[in-house]
Amino acid sequence: MTKKTLLTGLQPSGDLHIGNYFGALKPFLDEYENFNSILMLPDYHALTSVRDADALRRGSLMVVRDYIACGLDPEKAIVFKQSDVSEHTELAWILNCMVTVPFLMNAHAYKDKVAKGLEANAGLFTYPMLMAADILLYDTDIVPVGEDQRQHVEYAREVAKKFNLAYGEIFKAPEERIDKQVATVPGTDGAKMSKSYKNTIPLFATRQEIASAVMSIVTDSGGDVPANVYAIHKLYKTEAELAPLYESNKGKYKALKDALIEDIDAYIAPMREKRAAITDEYIHNVLERGAQKARALASAKMEVVRKAIGVR
Ligand code: ADP
Ligand code: TRP
Repeated sequence: MTKKTLLTGLQPSGDLHIGNYFGALKPFLDEYENFNSILMLPDYHALTSVRDADALRRGSLMVVRDYIACGLDPEKAIVFKQSDVSEHTELAWILNCMVTVPFLMNAHAYKDKVAKGLEANAGLFTYPMLMAADILLYDTDIVPVGEDQRQHVEYAREVAKKFNLAYGEIFKAPEERIDKQVATVPGTDGAKMSKSYKNTIPLFATRQEIASAVMSIVTDSGGDVPANVYAIHKLYKTEAELAPLYESNKGKYKALKDALIEDIDAYIAPMREKRAAITDEYIHNVLERGAQKARALASAKMEVVRKAIGVR
C-alpha cells in the first residue's frame, strides 16, 4: 500500500511558542514517520507581515533549527523553504483565478488579522490560495494544524474541487487534522496563545523567561484550580498525574505555578541542548536537499496543471 502524504508549515515570522508546538509541530512529529512527510517553511506567507530581510532570513533558519531540536529527523521528511520552489507562487496565481473576492473575504484569519491592525495587503488577502498551492502541489492527504487554520484547509479543498470541475481530476482533496486536546492552547491571558497577542510562552524560553511568563498567567478564576494554569499544565502531564498536585494545593496558585515552571523547564531542557548544537551550515544543507526533492515533485505536478489549463 502506498503511504499517505502529510504536510504542514509554520511561518518563520517570530519565535515559536508552545501553542505552535502542541497545536501543529508535535502532532506532525508524533506521526510523520508513518507517512510521506513534508515540512515546509512558508516564508512567502511571512512576507505578508515581515518587512525586515534579516529578520526573515534569521527566522527561517531558526524555525528549521527548532523543528530539528524538537525531534524531526531530516532524513525522514522533506524539509524545505517555500520560496525555493517557484511552483508554489505559480500555482497560487492559477488558484486565485478560480475563486471569487467574496469567497476570500470570508476568511476568518484575514478578518482577524485586519481587525488586529495588520496591513490589509493583497498578499494577506490571497494568502489562503498560496496555502492551498502548498498543499495541493504534493497531493497531500492530511494537514496537521491548529483550530485557527481549519478554514484554510477547507479553502484548499474547495478550490481543488472547483479546479477539478473545470479541468478534470487533477488535485486530491486534503483533510485537516486537528487534535481536539490541543486545538487552541490558551495564552497567559487566557485568550488563544498567539505571537500577535503578546501572551505567549516561547517554546525555547530560558528558565527565567518561562518563570516570568508563567507568573504572568492570569488566575482570576476564583476557584481552587486556576483554570489557565491547569489548561497549560495539562499539555505536559496527564490529568491523572496532575490530580494529586492540584488536590493538595487547592487555591495555592503560587505553588501550582512553581510546579508548572518546573515541568515546562524539564520538558524543554533536552531540546534546548540539542538546539544549541545545530549549526547554520547543517540547516542550509537540509534545506538545499529538501528543495531538490520538493522541486522534483512540484515541477511534475505543475506540468500536468499547465497542460490542463492550456498554457502548454
Ligand atoms: P501565531 O498565531 O502565533 O502567529 P501561526 O499562525 O504561525 O501562529 O501558527 C502556526 C501553527 O500553530 C498553525 O498550525 C496554528 O494553527 C498553530 N497554532 C498557533 N497558535 C496556536 C494555539 N494557541 N493553539 C493551538 N495551535 C496553535
Ligand atoms: N498558514 C499557516 C499558518 O499561519 C502556515 C502554512 C502555510 C501552512 N502553508 C501551509 C500550514 C500549508 C499547513 C499547510 O499557520
